[in-house]
Amino acid sequence: MATVPRNRTGSPVYDEDNLGFGQIFTDHMLTIQYSPDRGGWHSPEIKPREDLVLHPATMMLHYGQQVFEGMKAFVGPTDDDLLLFRPDMNIARFNKSCQRVCIPPLDPAVFMDQMCRLIRKDRDWVPKSPGTSLYIRPTVIAVDPFLGVRPSKTYLFYVILSPVGAYYPEGFQPVKIMVTDKYVRACRGGVGEAKTAANYAASLLAAEEAHEAGFTQVLWLNAVDKRSIEEVGTMNIFFRIRDEIVTPALEGTILPGVTRDSVIHFARDLGLKVTERTISIDELVSAAEDGTLQEIFGSGTAAVISPVSLFRYKGKDHVVADGKTGEVAAKLFEEITGMQTGAKPDPYGWVVNIGR
Ligand code: COI
Repeated sequence: MATVPRNRTGSPVYDEDNLGFGQIFTDHMLTIQYSPDRGGWHSPEIKPREDLVLHPATMMLHYGQQVFEGMKAFVGPTDDDLLLFRPDMNIARFNKSCQRVCIPPLDPAVFMDQMCRLIRKDRDWVPKSPGTSLYIRPTVIAVDPFLGVRPSKTYLFYVILSPVGAYYPEGFQPVKIMVTDKYVRACRGGVGEAKTAANYAASLLAAEEAHEAGFTQVLWLNAVDKRSIEEVGTMNIFFRIRDEIVTPALEGTILPGVTRDSVIHFARDLGLKVTERTISIDELVSAAEDGTLQEIFGSGTAAVISPVSLFRYKGKDHVVADGKTGEVAAKLFEEITGMQTGAKPDPYGWVVNIGR
């Protein structure tokens, strides 16, 4: 991990234009403990960031009982403004994910209050350059030292912060995705809609194979029919076909993205037709072949709005929007990032100012 140099007043100094994603971390962390004999969640603490010391039998390390979230903080129009985007949705999703893997939920007010205290403490770390933000990673892990398979009785919740730029190495340029029908990510009744580590572990082998073939990400298909399109794993996916914006419906296997929800609202208010429905890979290939596929883009907290320039399915490449960023993706990127940074109006009340 990179060591971040300081200026004379002790503030971190780093190149905001070359941050990448998740490589440097701020000075402090938040921890909250859970134990039944202390009445549940207790002892919130903001302290210098430190390594976790875990017993080798810690249950999370063996059975993966874990949940995480991803959010971003932005410096607003004045240095006193520190803006979060729809944090209530992330907190609600965090607790829903917890419920799926038998982790006791946190009080949303405590979560929000403690997280905001941490962000304010490390406010010098929030980058200001266009396209940058302070990424927030709340995480909860099962910490009983025990080798039997059951839910842990004790948990550690922590939040760490990382100044970030673009998630993908391409920056905010279009990415190439590979459709896999060799591996599957999730099926109904599984944990696909929970933000838990298992989903990401399940995606790695396919992603490695896609990288080796020159692709940035994998587009997942439904595990049962290997036909209907699901999501990219690091982002939800949208298609513009004959001026209709189509995104796979939430049916338990894909992450209910906060940016996905924002795109749906926002695009409808721009007057675009947006439909949440099943879309098969055959429909996508036909649209690409008959020229009615206008653009593809992904959405996610880390990925923001990420245009897709090409997809490969069964060995055949399909170029999208002449390999360029489509007009709807460009508009949504501009409007959503504008709202997130306070540069554009927020008619929805989505932006929460947690400044001083
Ligand atoms: C996010 O978009 O915040 C994510 O958590 C996706 C990825 C970085 C795991």
